[in-house]
Amino acid sequence: MIKLIAADRLRPGMYLHDLNCDWMSHPFVRSRFLLEDPADIAKIVSSGIREIYIDTSRGLDDASAPTVEEVRQRVDADMLRAATAKPDVPIQRTVSEEMGKARKIYEQTGRVVRNVMNDVRLGHAIHVADVEAVVEDITASVARSSGALISLLRLKRADDYTFQHCVAVGTLLVTFARSMGLDPETVREAGVGGLLHDVGKMKVPDAVLNKPGRLTDEEFLLIKRHPSDGHAALVATGSVGDIPLDITLHHHERMDGTGYPEKLAGADITLLARMSAIVDVYDAITSDRCYHKGMEPTEALRKMFEWSKFHFDEKLVQQFMRTIGIYPVGTLVMLESGRLGVVTEQTEGNLLAPKVCAFFSTRQNCYIKPETVDLAKSMGWGGADRILGHEQPQKWNVDPSRFLTAQPA
Ligand SMILES: [Fe+2]
Repeated sequence: MIKLIAADRLRPGMYLHDLNCDWMSHPFVRSRFLLEDPADIAKIVSSGIREIYIDTSRGLDDASAPTVEEVRQRVDADMLRAATAKPDVPIQRTVSEEMGKARKIYEQTGRVVRNVMNDVRLGHAIHVADVEAVVEDITASVARSSGALISLLRLKRADDYTFQHCVAVGTLLVTFARSMGLDPETVREAGVGGLLHDVGKMKVPDAVLNKPGRLTDEEFLLIKRHPSDGHAALVATGSVGDIPLDITLHHHERMDGTGYPEKLAGADITLLARMSAIVDVYDAITSDRCYHKGMEPTEALRKMFEWSKFHFDEKLVQQFMRTIGIYPVGTLVMLESGRLGVVTEQTEGNLLAPKVCAFFSTRQNCYIKPETVDLAKSMGWGGADRILGHEQPQKWNVDPSRFLTAQPA
């Protein structure tokens, strides 16, 4: 049986099933192993991991611990409660109308971020004005239709991960800050902070930054320097505002004080730093890396809900989910009718019933004529339809992004 236990209840003889944190936050190469060495328990606790899944069929049990099913039910109930609250600002355009522009903005942002990071690597001056200009474009695109840019963010190449992750965090932070009703100047600064937040990674040797295997303790310490190194590089420019500086220095702080570099806790972490921590981890765990398959967004949100007890601001995780949806644009979903579809638009006030472009029949195992189904008022194929859950595109060998820009009847 798989059970969730508090890290301080771990003891040798238990079998670790899942370290239950994003993989950048722990020093172990594997998540599953028999706990024999008490030093490993100390290492887990010092990594800031507070709760862990154990497999009681392969090691010692803890009778008081809840099972994985009980935890999942609790998290799902929390997500559903949050899903019914009022969503963010209404959209002006459909995703497919915005997609062409969004793609150009995404590519331009990638170029600017890459240039800035290379400048930092070489010790050159940074052109902050270029970063501010792309943030304007991102903000305008998000205002027209937030789903278009967001749907592009998962298309990362392994060799380009650090740059593309910065683009994603900048875009998601703009979207998030806007949905919180923050003033335009703060939204702009949040975007600059997101795009620059990992600039300190340019000081980490490539061999460590892109190492496919286990990091040694020393390598892990090198990585952990990037918030302070990035902050120092940005301070040196003299032209970066307080909010981007705060985001760069504090995006790895955690609400329970287990983060780095300053081990800040609770109210000592600013609103924007808390928001950036959420967005940073969300993008990291939904991204494919050479040694990890990214989680589907819905699964990632579920994990973030679970972790928010210790690491994140719970209310902000709920607000972030309302911003991007339980099934964000681009998510592949299975409908009750047996069709597969891609989410194309969120529905205001009901995150469980977005608009979906249905394009594949799992009953006949073939593509069908794409049909846009508004699940909030669905009376399509076979009557009312609804989402059963998200699906992995590779399981069905389909590319949902093809149907985001289609204009089906
Ligand atoms: Fe970081």
